[in-house]
Amino acid sequence: MSVLPLARLFAHCTRLVALTGAGCSTESGIPDYRSPRDRPRSPPVQYLDFIRKPAIRQRYWARSFVGWPAIEAARPNPSHGALAALEGAGRLAGIITQNVDGLHHAAGSRAVTELHGRLAEVRCHDCGDVSPRAALQVRLAAANPGWADARGPANADGDAELGADTHDFVVPPCLACGGVLKPRVVFFGENVPPPVVAEAFARLDEADGLLVAGTSLAVYSGLRFVRAAAERGLPIGGVNLGTSRGDADLAVCVRARTGAALPALAEALGAAPSA
Ligand SMILES: NC(=O)c1ccc[n+]([C@@H]2O[C@H](COP(=O)([O-])OP(=O)(O)OC[C@H]3O[C@@H](n4cnc5c(N)ncnc54)[C@H](O)[C@@H]3O)[C@@H](O)[C@H]2O)c1
Ligand SMILES: [Zn+2]
Repeated sequence: MSVLPLARLFAHCTRLVALTGAGCSTESGIPDYRSPRDRPRSPPVQYLDFIRKPAIRQRYWARSFVGWPAIEAARPNPSHGALAALEGAGRLAGIITQNVDGLHHAAGSRAVTELHGRLAEVRCHDCGDVSPRAALQVRLAAANPGWADARGPANADGDAELGADTHDFVVPPCLACGGVLKPRVVFFGENVPPPVVAEAFARLDEADGLLVAGTSLAVYSGLRFVRAAAERGLPIGGVNLGTSRGDADLAVCVRARTGAALPALAEALGAAPSA
């Protein structure tokens, strides 16, 4: 693995923007969607199903109840550390992330736009009240003592694969209004809030290069930033083990782990990561 072509591409950049995806967090133990796997994954929850169908919410929150401790315990890996170091060294102006795990902030990155929200917060669909996910975990545990020992393999999106029937799972309502609680993440079938898209494009407006890391760009929500950067003639380079829908627009793509390639890139650009 050599990051030299990427370092050359970005040699004169001082306002890089990184577009990151689930691949940046697999080395923190959070699975992505599209890497090859040894078992089939169940389809992700759809927004309208979640809002309309109580049984879908029971299934979602039961799986989330089991999967949340692993997300809460996940720590940044060298990919996150390298991007924080690039920002600290004045080479990187910001991050647009599709991840919902909060690990860029945890690594010390400051200018981060979380396109798809964050799992650590819960938002009431009815009154908009935002509360910590950790507090809901306590309520979920109290309402479902029979689920204390439930375990299942971790999935992307902070839930776990469960064989169990979830029709008896009790989903607590919003404490402020009794309404429907939803993780503050963008589900499939839901739009990214316009102010968040605007913030991401504002980052791109300031950018002198785009670094794409650990994303398949299967979803247009992320792909559009690569397209926009290409239209603006910015240098675009990537790090990804697999392929992505944006590959045609990448001048350079390093096929390597982000946890190895991003620290090497940071070092080559004069920003030695501390972790
Ligand atoms: N950690 C998270 O927050 C998380 C995890 C899973 C899914 N999601 C959500 O699901 C969507 C998934 O889209 P996506 O494009 O981010 O993920 P994806 O699963 O579609 O693609 C991940 C890409 O990263 C590559 N990859 C995996 N591990 C890697 C590594 N260590 N180094 C380099 N490359 C690696 C894979 O080959 C794949 O191409 C996002 O919109 C996101 O909101 C978030
Ligand atoms: Zn409410």
